[in-house]
Amino acid sequence: MSDDSRTSVLFVCLGNICRSPLADGIFTHLVKQRGLSDQFTIDSCGTGAWHVGNPPDPRSILVAAKNNIDLSNLRARQFNADTDPSEFDWIIPMDTSNHRELIKQGTPTAKVRLIRSFDPTLTSNKAPDVPDPYYGGDDGFDKVYEMLVRACDGMLTEVQA
Ligand code: 4NP
Repeated sequence: MSDDSRTSVLFVCLGNICRSPLADGIFTHLVKQRGLSDQFTIDSCGTGAWHVGNPPDPRSILVAAKNNIDLSNLRARQFNADTDPSEFDWIIPMDTSNHRELIKQGTPTAKVRLIRSFDPTLTSNKAPDVPDPYYGGDDGFDKVYEMLVRACDGMLTEVQA
């Protein structure tokens, strides 16, 4: 983060146990595949504090593992409004509620962008939310995974350009 030559990216959701750790793992994986690991600093956090210190939800760990991505070492942390906005170049919320909360806490609008706005397959001007899969079934996590792969791939292409 303090290394200016790196592009720093912070993925944000509510609990930092379902969606943003998955985005973190997928983006890290894509960056590695493209041989760009030394150019990026990647992290995730939640706007809420309920799960601080916990590993990702087992359903996120499982869907990632099915795709050769290991999330097991990640631990949840809460968004820090004092330090994160200055330390990260990009602050990427999963949904409009997270987006609103980041702005409310003083994050510069120019750094904040909804993750699905990077999905090149979405034709509408609107960037829909990544739905919170926490209270649903396992298939919700598969759907979230597919959405995040498309969005992270589009994001990496755009951030690099
Ligand atoms: P996430 O999902 O924001 O994708 O990590 C949630 C996980 C836990 C809770 C809410 C959302 N919760 O209320 O505990």
